[in-house]
Amino acid sequence: MIIKNSEYAVSAVREDQYPKDELPELAMAGRSNVGKSSLINTFVNRKNLARTSSQPGKTQTLNFYRVNDEFYLVDVPGYGYARVSQKKRQEFGEMIQDYLETRANLEGILILVDGRHEPTKDDIAMYQYAQYLNIPILVVATKIDKVKRNQRNKSIAGIKKAMNLRPEDELLTFSSFDKTNLDKLSTWIEDKVNA
Ligand code: GTP
Ligand code: MG
Repeated sequence: MIIKNSEYAVSAVREDQYPKDELPELAMAGRSNVGKSSLINTFVNRKNLARTSSQPGKTQTLNFYRVNDEFYLVDVPGYGYARVSQKKRQEFGEMIQDYLETRANLEGILILVDGRHEPTKDDIAMYQYAQYLNIPILVVATKIDKVKRNQRNKSIAGIKKAMNLRPEDELLTFSSFDKTNLDKLSTWIEDKVNA
């Protein structure tokens, strides 16, 4: 996919703030610091469109980025970050749930897991939840640049097994640092927004 333009559109914490133009949307999901905002930047080929940080808990609202005036990528707060208060975590959870459960123009979800580690309980729960909601899923194993090449197949196999990956769900290794599999990511996104 050729990125002609990308822009920040809006941040939302509830439904009446979502974009009103009914373009297809694809959402990120994944624990804090896994690389959701970075993936958006890598995909649109911009350094700082989505704000990133080495400190977990950077993204705190649903942030909608319009791409090619065609679709939105939706950045979301990460889960599993202990230093966000219990109350905030609950609010984040409800905000994400409301969005995922009600959004008619949601065409897919990218579930990001850390390519260096076994998926967490939260990762597995998110994957099962997305299945339950019948949202097309791409599992992305991030930061794969940090995994030695001869270890990558083993990591992938471990993630597939721990998540009990369905045959219809793709798992993509990915790196925002060296752009591993950016082409495949792009193909999946294009396919979903044209569905
Ligand atoms: P929250 O907004 O807190 O939920 O985090 P996030 O999932 O949006 O993570 P973000 O994109 O802000 O990245 C977190 C940290 O991981 C930053 O320091 C990034 O530079 C780093 N990072 C992201 N992607 C990669 C990658 O592909 N490889 C490596 N090595 N580091 C990465
Ligand atoms: Mg973020």
